[in-house]
Amino acid sequence: MAIIAGTGSCLPKCRITNDQISTWVDTSDQWIRERTGIRERRIAAEETTVMMAYQAGKKALEQAKCSPEEVDLILVATISGEQVFPGTACGVQKLLKAQHAAAFDINGACTGFVLAYHVAESLLETGGYQTVLVIGSECLSHITDWTDRGTCILFGDGAGAVLLQKSISRPYLSVIHSDGEKGEALTCRSRNDGVHSNLCQTEHPFLGGGKGRERFAVTGTKNSLPSDKDRNEEAFCEIPKDRKESFAYFMKMDGQAVFKFAVKKVPEVMEEVLRKNRLEKQEIRYYVLHQANRRIVEAVARRMEEPIGKFPMNLDRYGNTSSASIPILLDEMNRDGKLKQGDKLILAGFGAGLTWGAVIVEW
Ligand code: ACO
Repeated sequence: MAIIAGTGSCLPKCRITNDQISTWVDTSDQWIRERTGIRERRIAAEETTVMMAYQAGKKALEQAKCSPEEVDLILVATISGEQVFPGTACGVQKLLKAQHAAAFDINGACTGFVLAYHVAESLLETGGYQTVLVIGSECLSHITDWTDRGTCILFGDGAGAVLLQKSISRPYLSVIHSDGEKGEALTCRSRNDGVHSNLCQTEHPFLGGGKGRERFAVTGTKNSLPSDKDRNEEAFCEIPKDRKESFAYFMKMDGQAVFKFAVKKVPEVMEEVLRKNRLEKQEIRYYVLHQANRRIVEAVARRMEEPIGKFPMNLDRYGNTSSASIPILLDEMNRDGKLKQGDKLILAGFGAGLTWGAVIVEW
């Protein structure tokens, strides 16, 4: 019913290590690596959610040898667009010059890519579409509370994309779930208890800032910032006013509740999608999970009684990039030649909402 004709990704140039984070919150490289598996993450200093989504989408189109005019629909999963509207997908459409495409965003947090993939497959089946570009793109660094060691160690920025085309291959059923009752486990709200604030309340350790600042300066950590040769330090230190304003929203998380939810629900939903499609575990080549935490992935593998080698990971290099994590990993696997025609994969996402879901992909 649908095949992935191309993949692409875009990661910001700026790399931030655990040691750097431990210069402004009370943590350590060892603690972060042992509890999460994360060694470093990318932070969008110059890149934006739209720009990264566009770059990832463009690469997917190039790989599929598909022109932007052929795209019928662009779906962007994101929780960190630069603006409330217009949506990130419309910005991508404009940059790609995909003038025939409809475009809209999906807010499904870390399940966002799986939700968007499910919507894309459904619309290929019933909506008369032939070609759908599905993207996950996030600038989570803009909604991270950089004073909270419980969350700021986890997240990173980036984008990934797949180009889906209608085909005569076997259709697969997807499974998605939500539990709004447990929504408080992971939220992103204004610091002023839901009252919209247009001013940045705290300092961003890379971009600087703070209430009332007109010009941002990198604080304290400047000497230890990564040394991408082509990065212009001055341009990096100064960002437009509208970027500052988005820092009024911060993620808050009950880490243990999210951990328990993930290790219970992800195996369940993967077993459910297998059953629904009359597939056996042995037929699955890879389980491509949302990259939140190595311990979550390992616990899921144990519960599934499947070898950890079937669970590829790249979270050590990028941290948790929410809706972008699955397509970034897929693109790496694809470009590394790890995926062969006929391979079956399960993509599984989980996150705020709470939401979780799984889809089957046949390569
Ligand atoms: N460095 C050092 N110590 C820390 C840090 C840190 N970065 N963060 C917390 N601690 C401390 C706590 O204060 C606590 O100290 P105390 O015992 O003196 O009170 C101690 O470490 C243990 O804290 P826990 O919260 O119990 O630590 P835990 O082992 O649960 O690890 C973590 C925390 C890594 C956040 C873990 O709960 C986790 O990974 N949860 C899942 C989070 C996740 O993956 N979220 C994203 C999924 S959804 C989405 O992607 C948006």
